[in-house]
Amino acid sequence: MQVARRAEELNGALVEELKENLARAGTPISPPVEAAFRATPRHHFVPGVSLEEAYANTSILIKHVDGQPRSSSSQPSLMAHMLDQLDVVPGQKVLEIGTGSGYNAALLGQLVDRGGRVVTIDIDEELVHAAADRLRAAGVPWVEAHAGDGGLGWPAGGPYERIIVTAAAWDIPRAWRDQLVHGGRFVTPLMIRGGQACVAFERVENHLDSVTIGDCSFMSMRGAFGDPGRPLALGPRAGFYAVIPNPDGPRVSAGEIYGWLTDAPRELESGVSATPTELWELEQWLAFRDEGYCFLWTHGDEAEHELLPPLPRPGASGPTAWARGIVSEHGLALVGPCPPRNHPSEGDQVYLGVWSYGTDVELGQRLLNHMERWTASRDCSPLPLEIRVYHSCDTELPPSWEIVRRPSSLLAIDWSPGA
Ligand SMILES: C[S@@+](CC[C@H](N)C(=O)[O-])C[C@H]1O[C@@H](n2cnc3c(N)ncnc32)[C@H](O)[C@@H]1O
Repeated sequence: MQVARRAEELNGALVEELKENLARAGTPISPPVEAAFRATPRHHFVPGVSLEEAYANTSILIKHVDGQPRSSSSQPSLMAHMLDQLDVVPGQKVLEIGTGSGYNAALLGQLVDRGGRVVTIDIDEELVHAAADRLRAAGVPWVEAHAGDGGLGWPAGGPYERIIVTAAAWDIPRAWRDQLVHGGRFVTPLMIRGGQACVAFERVENHLDSVTIGDCSFMSMRGAFGDPGRPLALGPRAGFYAVIPNPDGPRVSAGEIYGWLTDAPRELESGVSATPTELWELEQWLAFRDEGYCFLWTHGDEAEHELLPPLPRPGASGPTAWARGIVSEHGLALVGPCPPRNHPSEGDQVYLGVWSYGTDVELGQRLLNHMERWTASRDCSPLPLEIRVYHSCDTELPPSWEIVRRPSSLLAIDWSPGA
């Protein structure tokens, strides 16, 4: 009883925090999404963590394999924003790809209410079983969980008025478009140029047209339509990885990167400071603007943590060290802490510099230039883009837009709409 009361209190505080955060970001939470969060106790979906952790506005890792994250309950403020982008109305049929903990499916269950239907799919059967048990206990029988590759959708339950993907999509399978009604809405984290944008599309005839675009950070989708870029396993111990998301980016081996990291870095001062949240924004800036953008992380081994510059990673929980920067065929430059002499960091602001490795001496300066340009504009957004998704080569594509060819879709991107 006491647990239920404490959980309700903490959930109330979380909802207030979401309201504040989203209002500050200029995307206020809508009353139905707020009510769905109030009605859905997150601690029922993320067992094994304290009540305080369950109601913190952070993602919670729920499964990892060999040190690689496989599933998490996403950051609540990001979930709230995506649910608002999805714009669900009671009575609708919704498909979710990426069941994970089942928490987002339960929120969708509140939004469609008992007259609607939610089908949620995860590629990991073990997670589906656990989530199905939790959803049964939550008393939402109109929400059903199935195991399968979500890239194929779930035709038996379609067509859907709404489809939401909660893993980062690299390609947009035709099945998603085909299972969405005309005028229906589709929300997905989309990987472009190594960065991620959370895009709400509407189906217009046979293509998808972006309606709203925000920032996000999700683990990659797996399966037949997943991101072909694989993390490079670094060093002798499990749980240390590097990712170079750009498939046309620098060709460099895991051994070279690990070798560079085991040497002492050259440190360069930048005079730029940032909070943990702003660090993530800097990372998005690099992802969209540098062909050699890379990130590295370790999960587990303390000795490996020490090879990375010690900077916080916002919105994450658990013993993970994370670093971001740029790589070339001859070196690596990472964002690291670097207080100017006689100038200690203040509050949660950290002074940043560049930790540079290998023989590419210009790379550190290139990263410094990015940091300076970023701090001058503090623009982290995935740019004011407009995106259309097509599924047939004979479609007439918008002239002068960048065309990104993926195995089953064509992404047409206008990087500066209205310009
Ligand atoms: C960030 S988690 C989802 C969070 C979830 N919506 C929640 O509320 O907890 C991403 C999930 O996508 C799943 N996934 C990855 N690739 C998939 C695929 N091809 N089809 C279905 N699920 C997939 C992962 O197993 C993981 O559980």
